[in-house]
Amino acid sequence: MKTVIYNIGTLAGILPAGVEKLDGKEMGHVECLEDAYVVIEDGVIAGFGRMDTARNCSDAIYIDAKGGYVMPCFCDSHTHIVYAGCRDGEFRDKIAGLSYEEIAARGGGILNSADLLHATSEDELYRQSMERVNEIMAMGTGAVEIKSGYGLTTEDELKMLRVIRRIKETAPITVKANFLGAHAVGRAYKGRQKEYVALICDEMLPKVASEGLADFVDVFCDKGFFTIEETDRILTEAARYGIRPKIHANELEVSGGVQVGVKHGALSVDHLEKTTDAEMEALRGSGTMPTMLPGCSFFLGLPYGRAKDYIEAGLPVALASDYNPGSSPSGNMRFVMALGCIRMRLTPEQSFNACTINSAYAMGISDILGSITVGKKGNLIITKPLPSLAFIPYSHQTPIIEKVLLNGNPLL
Ligand code: NIG
Ligand code: FE
Repeated sequence: MKTVIYNIGTLAGILPAGVEKLDGKEMGHVECLEDAYVVIEDGVIAGFGRMDTARNCSDAIYIDAKGGYVMPCFCDSHTHIVYAGCRDGEFRDKIAGLSYEEIAARGGGILNSADLLHATSEDELYRQSMERVNEIMAMGTGAVEIKSGYGLTTEDELKMLRVIRRIKETAPITVKANFLGAHAVGRAYKGRQKEYVALICDEMLPKVASEGLADFVDVFCDKGFFTIEETDRILTEAARYGIRPKIHANELEVSGGVQVGVKHGALSVDHLEKTTDAEMEALRGSGTMPTMLPGCSFFLGLPYGRAKDYIEAGLPVALASDYNPGSSPSGNMRFVMALGCIRMRLTPEQSFNACTINSAYAMGISDILGSITVGKKGNLIITKPLPSLAFIPYSHQTPIIEKVLLNGNPLL
């Protein structure tokens, strides 16, 4: 099947084939083509060019972009969108002044979500999660990484991962699964953290690996959660199954998580609200993508990651939503892009690249998503006519999306 998008005012985010990610200065540029068309064949970008070079093809479906922008869909490389219910009660505690750590220490937080998930059937969990998947696709997200970590027992972690697999099989969005058994210590193991880590290594990981349920492994390596030594142990064990890490580090404290992630060849280290120059040095030349989650900083009132310093130091940066019920109840990547500009002082181009090609890299899919490149998936956003690329994050609540195409097919 062939689809032609024509009358494109600006085709934005063009990259040559083979570019895996953009580092430092490279992040400051978004290649655009004015007055353009794109051809998508069998779900994949087959060509693009200027309208005056377009040829008629009688067998194609034509979509008139009416002078709008066409850009690659957002890639959201860090989410927890499979969860049950919500945590609106804790929202009140937060407003009343309790910190994220205080809520967690009272047995709320992640453990609260684990209780809700335990009481929810797999079918119902899938139904609730698909509502959020549909929500993010409509907002222009074309690829998403989804973590487990609200199970915290072998059975419930497997339940979550099976739901993620079902989303992979049934939704048109590209999905990557991340096993986050080390998100918090399960209630039954309270005070026995060492034994819980052994459960992850000796029981959960082998089962997850034998069912092929995880593309990645994650650990919440931070103050009050898992130590560097525990993280090291879990990642060493995961490596035996060939599962690559993408981890939570330095949200609450400079935890050493970045260094342990780099040591294990992590694809990304995420959060980084707290960073010193040592983390930047550890990341240099590592192939590990520093990923920041400004929606979490916004919601919890934490410092924003030092994205600008990273870029000035020549490093790449990815941005993701962290969509979850406790620290970032939103998967709106356009808002993430806006926070990248407004609160982290990235230019619109840097923020655009952080939310597309670099976040695709952070989930190992920048060969098939994250830019306008022949051979990549036809996961595209068509907008209303816009005065500039900057308008996307600047006027961040204006409904500019006209259509989202996944694999070349418009969302209904
Ligand atoms: O990325 N930091 C750890 N995990 C999530 C929050 C999970 C929750 O509170 O439910 C995060 O912010
Ligand atoms: Fe997270």
